[in-house]
Parts: sequence; C-alpha cells; structure tokens
Amino acid sequence: MNKQKVLVTGGAGYIGSHACVELLEAGFDVVVVDNLANSKPESLARVQRITGKTLAFYQADIRDQAALTAIFAKETPTTVIHFAGLKAVGESCQQPQLYYHNNVYGTLVLTEVMAEANVKQLVFSSSATVYGESESPQYSEHFPLGAINPYGRSKAMIEDILRDLSTADTLNQAPNPWKIALLRYFNPIGAHQSGLIGEDPNGIPNNLMPYVAQVAIGKLPQLSVFGDDYPTPDGTGIRDYIHVVDLVKGHIKAIAALNSDKFLAGGCKAYNLGTGQGYSVLEIIQAFERVTEKPINYKISPRRAGDLAECFANPNLARQELNWKVEKNLDDMVADTWNWQTKNPRGYD
Ligand code: NAD
Ligand code: WQD
Repeated sequence: MNKQKVLVTGGAGYIGSHACVELLEAGFDVVVVDNLANSKPESLARVQRITGKTLAFYQADIRDQAALTAIFAKETPTTVIHFAGLKAVGESCQQPQLYYHNNVYGTLVLTEVMAEANVKQLVFSSSATVYGESESPQYSEHFPLGAINPYGRSKAMIEDILRDLSTADTLNQAPNPWKIALLRYFNPIGAHQSGLIGEDPNGIPNNLMPYVAQVAIGKLPQLSVFGDDYPTPDGTGIRDYIHVVDLVKGHIKAIAALNSDKFLAGGCKAYNLGTGQGYSVLEIIQAFERVTEKPINYKISPRRAGDLAECFANPNLARQELNWKVEKNLDDMVADTWNWQTKNPRGYD
C-alpha cells in the first residue's frame, strides 16, 4: 500500500508541530499549510530535526481557495488534520468578525477544496469550549452545547457545518462519503520531550501553564490566580490538563478509526480528548514547584469573566472507539513544559 499522506493545516503551531512529529514517526507523509499568523517556520525545522524526516511546507492561508486547490492538486493527500485557526478567547470578543472569517469561512473554503479534490477524510480541532452549562463538571460528548464567546461559537459553528456535510452525503447516498472526527480538546499543555518544540505564545500568555512557566523563569513577576472562592476543594478553578503528545496521538488513532470499518459508511463523530482527571490552579502551582524546585510567586485575584469553576472530560468514548488513552501524568506535563521553557527562554526567536 502507498504511504498515506496527511495534509496538516496549522501544522507550524503548538499542537500542529507536535502532530507532525507523531505523524512522521508513524510513517505518514506530511504536508503542512500554515500562514504563520501565530507561528514560526523554525518549529517545522525542529520537527524535521527531531524525526530525521522531511515534510512539505506551504505558507498559505486556508481562505485562499486558489492556493489551496493548487496544493491539493500537487500533493494529493488522503486525509486532512485541520488545526489552522485563531484561538484567543479575549481577542475573539474584541474582533468577532476576524474569528468567524478565519475559523468558519476558512473551514468552508477548506472543505470545498477537499470535496472538489475528493479528499473527504477530516480530523478537526474542536474544543471543550463548545459545551454549554451542565449539571456535572465531567463532560460527555452528548452534553448540550452552548459556547459563550465568539471563539467557542466559531468551533461550534464549524462542528455544525461538518455534521451537515456528512448528513448530506448520507441523504445523497454519496459514493465517497465524508468521514470526520471532531476532537474536543480539554487543556493541552507540555511539550515534546526533546525540548525542541513547545508552546511559544505571542506577548503575555493568556493560559495558565505558559504563564506559570514564565513566572518560574523570571520573565513575568507574578501569577494572578483568578479566584479562590469557587465551589472546589481549594477554591480555585479545576481543569483537565492533557499532555500535548498524548493529545496528538489521539489524532493518529482518529485517522485509524476513519480508515476502519467503523466509518465505512461515512459519518461525523465527536470525541473528547482529555485525561478525565481535573487539577486546581493551586495544584498546578504546587506541581510546578515540586518538579522545578522553584517557588512560584502568585497572588489571589478576582475571578476572570467567563471562567467555569470546574471542567474535565469523560474520555471513555475515545478510549472505546479510538482505542486511545493517555500515557503521561501531571509531573510529565510540568517537566516537559519546564524543559522547553529553560531550553528556549525566548521561544523560537
Ligand atoms: P496555534 O496558534 O499555535 O496554531 C494554529 C496555527 O494555525 C498557527 O500556526 C497559525 O499560524 C495557523 N493559522 C491560523 N489561521 C490560519 C489560516 N487562516 N490559514 C493558515 N494557517 C492559519 O494554536 P494551537 O494551540 O496549536 O491550536 C491548534 C488548534 O487547536 C486551533 O484550531 C485551536 O483552536 C484548537 N484548540 C487549541 C486549544 C489550546 O488550548 N491550545 C484547545 C482546544 C482547541
Ligand atoms: C485554566 C485555569 C483560570 C491564567 C482556555 C480557553 C479554551 C481552550 C483552552 C482553546 C482557569 C486559571 C489562568 C492565569 C489563572 N482553548 N488561570 N491565572 O480558561 O480553561 O481554557 O484555553 O480551545 O477555549 O478558554 O484555560 O489556561 O486560561 O485557565 O488563575 O493567569 O487557570 O482561571 O481556572 P481555560 P486557562
């Protein structure tokens, strides 16, 4: 059988670069399409250094239909993993059109080009942010959706579009129906064990883990813990942090599932990618202090608008249907974050 070729949109980014490593190591050919809006080509040079393999890179915007069509014609991929998107919740509230245009319109263009090229196998980066309010903090895939910001709504809209494409193929009895996995990530953190690739946020980080890492290394003076009066054991927010390498392995498992009899008749299905275990902000700080033997300077601040008290995954569906489970624990996540941070104090610069 010919090698399978995977086209990775957003492959130069944080999660995408880790996915490229796993794909190359699993024997796939890899083509990256990225406009470098939030990444640097150095990440891909490092991917090739880690794996000793090469990949094809096109600096292009997924909204550029002509460019994308030409790339599909030249490369003839069999599957697409679609990471390309903007992801800052606060920015999405200030610039909703940018987010809907980039994320939703970008996905429309991508799927049009894919359908035209008859490439109808897709793994999509969705997010736990698509879930709405629920009685239980442990989220299962059938829980009601109800994103509360433009970023989250852009993901929910894309999920709807992809489900509709699949339903239409069933109605039309399409000979090559869409096969789509919607992967809902919880909180990806950590870095590749080599310390060569990792998360390189622009400016001051929004997310907890890169913020803590920059406090530990002395780049930022103090962490603000957003609220200690939540109804959780220590009063701080609880999230399901997942090692980025475990997360991207879920994508390889998803491709295998899409290639299997399970998706023979096509379909579009959502899977949570989380560990199923939540940790509080204070537990993250303690883990960081334990692993790095450095004190983290923090203060308790008011709650951040829009934050939930507690949110973690029920990962059983991915375990059963994708045959996927996490292998790394919190100390691995912290150690790998720290390894990346200390080896690359200025990110890829
Ligand atoms: P990232 O910003 O590091 O990577 C996204 C990549 O997409 C970047 O390299 C960026 O340059 C590229 N890109 C953006 N718009 C593009 C466009 N129009 N055309 C071509 N390339 C474009 O983000 P990440 O953390 O690696 O996230 C990857 C995906 O996973 C995103 O879709 C994000 O929404 C989703 N996700 C991330 C998290 C998280 O916490 N990191 C959680 C849930 C879901
Ligand atoms: C984690 C916990 C904060 C920063 C976000 C997006 C979500 C998804 C992942 C893409 C919370 C607390 C944080 C700080 C703090 N992205 N915190 N001080 O909010 O769960 O999810 O990233 O899909 O859409 O909303 O992650 O890392 O920002 O916060 O106390 O400086 O840390 O209140 O309890 P979040 P986070």
